[in-house]
Amino acid sequence: MDKVNFTRMKDGTKEDYEFLTSHEIEYTKGTADRLLRALEQLDESLSGYQVTRLGHSVQSATRAWRDGADIDWVVAVLLHDIGDIFAPYNHDEYAATILKPFVREQCRWCVQAHGDFQMLYYGHHLDGFDQNKRDRHRGHRYFDDCAEFCERWDQASFDPDYSSLPLSFFAPMVQQVFARTAYDPEVTRAPDQPLTNRDIAAERARP
Ligand SMILES: [Fe+2]
Ligand SMILES: [Fe+2]
Repeated sequence: MDKVNFTRMKDGTKEDYEFLTSHEIEYTKGTADRLLRALEQLDESLSGYQVTRLGHSVQSATRAWRDGADIDWVVAVLLHDIGDIFAPYNHDEYAATILKPFVREQCRWCVQAHGDFQMLYYGHHLDGFDQNKRDRHRGHRYFDDCAEFCERWDQASFDPDYSSLPLSFFAPMVQQVFARTAYDPEVTRAPDQPLTNRDIAAERARP
């Protein structure tokens, strides 16, 4: 079989659906490659800043990496604005949905909420924006993490002179995260990790 016979899903057979499932499993193995290509496309999106959206993404991830953040943080940070192309009004939720099955909840939540938190830096300059939109999340267990994520890695990463690591540096981390078993509780419910680990950061900063 190289194609199913049905034209309406309800007419499909067990054989059809087993065939489709095996195809789907093969296809999911390419998720990391497709995400890396989508990141490259961010280079052409939304102009006006001093760095492209790809430049912003790798700069954010580089800062996270140099702070000693672990792989879940670094990959989440790298992908946090990947929704800009297709979901300009909820790009945070878009990225969080991609990450949800593969990173721990702490990182997924911060990506999902980062749009609200980022308003702290520009909301007061624009009509109709609430600078304190993040306050609706006060008391959440990841409030401080998201605030720090935005302060250290997101809002700070629009500098054209910053020496970011290339996307290729992060590619193996993206491959590793998206090769995990989806929704593995060992991953999604893994213990929270600090954003910065000073010991690792000092080690990585060494020439
Ligand atoms: Fe964003
Ligand atoms: Fe961002």
